Amino acid sequence: METFQSLLRNELARALGAAGLPPAGEVTPATDARFGDYQTNAALILAKQRGENPRQLAQKIIDHLSVDDLAEPPTIAGPGFINFALKPDALAEQAGQLLRDDRLGVARAEKRHRIVIDFGSPNVAKPMHVGHIRSLVLGDALARIATFLGHDVIRDNHIGDWGTQFGMVIYGWKNLLDRAALARDPIAELVRIYKTANELGKSDPAVLDACRNELVKLQAGDEENLSIWNECVALSTREFEAAYDILDIHYDIQRGESFYNDRLPAVVDRLLQSGVAEMSEGAVCVFFRDIPELAERPCIVRKSDGGFNYATTDVATIDYRIRDLGADTVWIETGAPQQLHFRQIFEIARREGYTADFRHITHGSILGEDRKLMKTRSGENVALRDVLDEAVVRARKIVEQKNPDLAEEEKNAIAQTIGIGAVKYADLSQYRMTDYIFSWDRMLSLQGNTAPYLQNAYVRIRSIFRKAGEEFVLPAELVLTEPAEFNLAKRLTQFAEIVPQVLNDFRPNLLANYLFELANAFHAFYEACPVLKADEPARATRLALCELAARTLQQGLDLLGIDVPEKM
Ligand code: ARG
Repeated sequence: METFQSLLRNELARALGAAGLPPAGEVTPATDARFGDYQTNAALILAKQRGENPRQLAQKIIDHLSVDDLAEPPTIAGPGFINFALKPDALAEQAGQLLRDDRLGVARAEKRHRIVIDFGSPNVAKPMHVGHIRSLVLGDALARIATFLGHDVIRDNHIGDWGTQFGMVIYGWKNLLDRAALARDPIAELVRIYKTANELGKSDPAVLDACRNELVKLQAGDEENLSIWNECVALSTREFEAAYDILDIHYDIQRGESFYNDRLPAVVDRLLQSGVAEMSEGAVCVFFRDIPELAERPCIVRKSDGGFNYATTDVATIDYRIRDLGADTVWIETGAPQQLHFRQIFEIARREGYTADFRHITHGSILGEDRKLMKTRSGENVALRDVLDEAVVRARKIVEQKNPDLAEEEKNAIAQTIGIGAVKYADLSQYRMTDYIFSWDRMLSLQGNTAPYLQNAYVRIRSIFRKAGEEFVLPAELVLTEPAEFNLAKRLTQFAEIVPQVLNDFRPNLLANYLFELANAFHAFYEACPVLKADEPARATRLALCELAARTLQQGLDLLGIDVPEKM
């Protein structure tokens, strides 16, 4: 089924043709609801191109438009906008169709892409901290939305499981390890031995040498070192997976940096042979002399000591994703500090002849209440697990207050849904580049643009049906009469317009804000219009609007990776 926006867009295109005019302009939601629901700037654009009077052109277009089945007669506003106000009948008809469509009107993308999305991608032997939330939650939401739009999505966890730090970790493992501490909290112990080895190495060249030696042995395939490394990866993986389970975020494949090791020499040879890279002071580098911002920033792909680095791995990663996985699109979600790195990598890919669509998607920071990077009181990064645990504990208190009579187990499950949902939503409802302040009180509030508010709207609707004691039956026809019904129905029909837009600039916040507006429209409707006590046909229509609102909230939140409880 088609959205109002696309129906109007098609009709505009037809009318322009009939009026002897070229295609022009957009149909967008009206900026001011007083003038209507949709508008087009076609006349303004054409007037400028042709040096004609925009209002006269608008009239000419209107004369050729036939939108009677959808909208009231179009009107001209301001300098020459054409406005469309939807008819109640058209809204009722569209809402009925949405209820019959399990995609809620969301069309599949015209072209199906194979998209590799690399997000989260934490480093081994380091704890996951609050900063990892952004990449995880954004990447997951984008993957869910792309999948829903019909793309073939491969979620790849590009963990940092290789690199110079392993010299110190292995030295520490052999000389400093406290087995009991490792059993209690493996990652903390790995961090401790790494830090201690690092400190010792600073004052004692013999230790530094020993660490380097361990690294060389690891890279040469020494059995003992490989098995220590393997164990570190396994311990970290277990820790990551515990967090993924709580967050309900999952990957299709995990190709960490180590996966690319044996491909690196050939990658560098190829870059040298094709002339994309050149020797410079003993290292192999790619220069970007023709790109002003990169002119002073060559990318080293083999160091003068012969070692490969993060960039070499990422060049190999591009090969793998395009050639082996068959992707035509690659999205990589990381913090903004890696912007330069990926500009270089994507430019190298382009020079190598890759034509895939490469996107680096970045995000801002999570701040503490002091507006500085969020840290613990002692200045450490806040552990991800601590944040998730606290979210659930705090949500549990809310459930306790709202619904003390529920069974313990149910309370726990609801607290999980609300707590984790609140953390995710606080992130996703912000534009991703904006730094935001992490505030428990705000994100867990039942008022305002929060997950609990949206979940509560859903729960309210479910409770209407429980109270009615009836399953939903779709009436043959919806009859809308009240302004609050129109408003809710309009919001509901916009879902299918919003979802695809999220991917234009990777903005799940568009969907989040839409859901907030939808919940507001539902609450306004619920205040103004009795549901169960209404007479027919209003009662059946209102129940239908309730049902559609619940489905839309649930589907929309699900696309953000957020669950809904049935009670709270
Ligand atoms: N492990 C990296 C980090 O923690 C992120 C990896 C991103 N993906 C990539 N292909 N380089 O910063």
